[in-house]
Formats: sequence, structure tokens, C-alpha cells
Amino acid sequence: MVTRIRVGVVFGGKSGEHEVSIESAKSVIEALDRNKYDVMPIAIDKQGRWSAGERARRVLEGGWATLQAPRTNGNVVTEGNTGDDVFAGSVPEQGLQTGQPSVIPEHVMESIDVLFPVLHGSYGEDGTVQGMFELLNVPYVGAGVAASSVGMDKVLMKRMFAAVGLPQVDYVYCTRNEWETDPSMVTKNVETRLGYPCFVKPANLGSSVGISKVKSQAELRNAIDLAAKYDRKIIIEQGLNVREVEVAVLGNDAPKASVPGEVIPSNEFYDYRAKYLDGESTLMIPAPISDELTEEIRRLAIQAYKAIDCSGLARVDFFVEKDTQRVLINEINTMPGFTKFSMYPKLWEATGVAYSELIGKLLAYAIERAEERRRSQIEFDV
Ligand SMILES: Nc1ncnc2c1ncn2[C@@H]1O[C@H](COP(=O)(O)OP(=O)(O)O)[C@@H](O)[C@H]1O
Ligand SMILES: [Mg+2]
Repeated sequence: MVTRIRVGVVFGGKSGEHEVSIESAKSVIEALDRNKYDVMPIAIDKQGRWSAGERARRVLEGGWATLQAPRTNGNVVTEGNTGDDVFAGSVPEQGLQTGQPSVIPEHVMESIDVLFPVLHGSYGEDGTVQGMFELLNVPYVGAGVAASSVGMDKVLMKRMFAAVGLPQVDYVYCTRNEWETDPSMVTKNVETRLGYPCFVKPANLGSSVGISKVKSQAELRNAIDLAAKYDRKIIIEQGLNVREVEVAVLGNDAPKASVPGEVIPSNEFYDYRAKYLDGESTLMIPAPISDELTEEIRRLAIQAYKAIDCSGLARVDFFVEKDTQRVLINEINTMPGFTKFSMYPKLWEATGVAYSELIGKLLAYAIERAEERRRSQIEFDV
């Protein structure tokens, strides 16, 4: 008898990318092969409350508005949380060790073999939820705690990239406190080291939220004020005239890189509107670049992946400077957009891995990584 793998698909979440996450989860759930997998949808609302089973399914179908106000028990939505309609049969003999407190009810966790957190941004892609999964001892798709948090923090990420010699844009960084106590020191630093135009970004967000391109000191001040609303760390980068090329990486110990793709933003830069709202940005797969550039970018993508000790998947984004063809790494995204139309799955499709096959591989890598973790001894002789 073939044992079916029970997959919990976690979506929504306390982040600006809540809606994108719901779209990604719909695609994933639709594509999961029902001959191999049973699916438990698990929704997190914008306040951070979790629902599993039928309630979560209703969120996928009609949004949060379709639910009545939940009865809550601390952080856990209890009403309708049985999940019985989703997994037939009893709790498995080799259930998960869920001795720790959980925002997912224990009986739900016990019936899950592997989790796919299709969560983007804060509290989803930044190591926090990954830490909880580690405590619960449940396999999960994607990067571990450290790689997730480094991948989310543009300052830490750049330092890790620098440590392995990856080429990147010149930048300076300041804390909110430094900006508030000595703004002229910050602007002077930016002007002497970078000049204009430059990009101002909160260190820990995604989807271009809080990012501005600035061309003067007045704009710089406003942009730092804006970024400082979102984060206590602010990064300022030299603004270059670039093409944007992205690579999908997949795997654990021997990660593979896809063919690169190019994004042609519909706006002056790839801002939130260009990414999600106007639907006019173009993805060109494969990227129309030379074979040499293709190979260089794929090699750097793997190097970046290993630099942050990533596992599972990541999309690695590059700039190619238009005048010089110089390749610079921009960032790594440990839980990239995952709808059927998103860059990450599209890149794998073009490389020969279809969407549902890709999901199967990710689940297998999640289980492999959990087994690998269990091999490490936690007790030792002195
Ligand atoms: N240094 C830069 N030079 C030129 N364009 C940039 C620079 N930094 C960011 N951009 C533009 O802004 C977009 C968003 O920046 P990015 O750092 O990728 O933030 P996010 O993590 O929100 O995706 C990029 O896709 C690119 O279009
Ligand atoms: Mg980006």
C-alpha cells in the first residue's frame, strides 16, 4: 500500500504580502497530486491567528470576509478547527512530537507529515515561523531559521555575500536611531560615498514596500523618513541603470540553478505597482543574454545560495549594468512568489521541471532536510 503524504499548506500571515501568499497557496493546493498527497489548508489572518481545515478552505475560496467573527482561545482560532473533513482516518502512530505550545492545534499538527509555508515577508520568510516549526519538530519546505532571517535582512545578506566575494552595488546603512540623532551625518555619508540617484530601502521588507529612488537631498530625507517607518535599519544603495535578471535555485546539499529570466518592469523601477497591480511587467524566459553571462549568473546564484546556507528553494536576483554588462547580485528571496505565473515556477518550467513536479521535489527536500537535522547528536560526552 502506498502511504499518502499529508501536507499542511500554510498561507496568509502578518505581512504586507498576505494577499500574494493566498494566491500562491491556491496554486500550490490545486497542483498537489491527490494520488500522493492529502492536503490540509492552514490560514493565518493579518492579526496572526491560525485556522486549519474547513475554515482555511473557506478563506481560500472567498477570502476572510466569508468567515464569521472567530471564537478565539489566545492566539488560536478554535471554532471549526477539526480538520476531520480533510484527513480521513486516525492520528498516525508515529505522530509528530508536539509537546510545545503551538498556534496550530496539536491534533492538527499530529496529522501532518510536512508543512509548506507559502508565506512571504515578515513572520513568514524571516525565520520566525521556521523557528516554530523546528520547535514542533515538523519538516517544512524552504530555508531554515538562519538562512531565512539573513535572506530577509538586506544588510546581513550583503555582508554574507561580501564575505564570499560576490559583486554587489555600493551601499551605506544607518539605523533609525542614527537617522533621528544625526541626519546630516547620514546625508553627508550618502552624498560622499554614493551620490545620486540612489535607492533607499527598509532593510527587512519585500515587494518594494517603503523603497524610493531619490535624486536630491530633499528627496533623500523624505525617503529615509519613509523607510524608517517600516524598519529600524535603513539601507541606501547607489542607483544604477540596470537590467534585472533572476535565477531559481532548488535543492539542499547540491543545489541546482534554473535558466535565468529577465524582468522588464512597467514602471521606472520594479515597485509594488509594477509587481502586482498593473500586470504590465514582462517576464522574459529565458533572459535574452549571452551564454557567458547566463553561465556566470547561474554560478553566482549557487554561490549566493550557499553563502547564506539556504535549503529547499530561493530566487536569486541580479542586476546587469546596461553600460558595462557588469553583473551584481541584488538579493536572495527564500520564499519567492509561487503562483503558477510567478517567476520561480516559470523558470523551472523552462528548465524542464513542471509546476506539480516542482512542488513534489520541494516536499521531498523538506523531508530530507528534517532527516538530516535529526542525524545531529544533541547530547555529548564530556
Ligand atoms: N541599486 C539599485 N539600482 C537600480 N535599481 C534598483 C536598485 N535597488 C533596487 N532597484 C529597483 O527596485 C526594485 C526593488 O528593490 P529590491 O531591493 O529588489 O527590493 P524588494 O526586496 O522589495 O524586492 C528592484 O527590483 C529594482 O527595480
Ligand atoms: Mg526584489
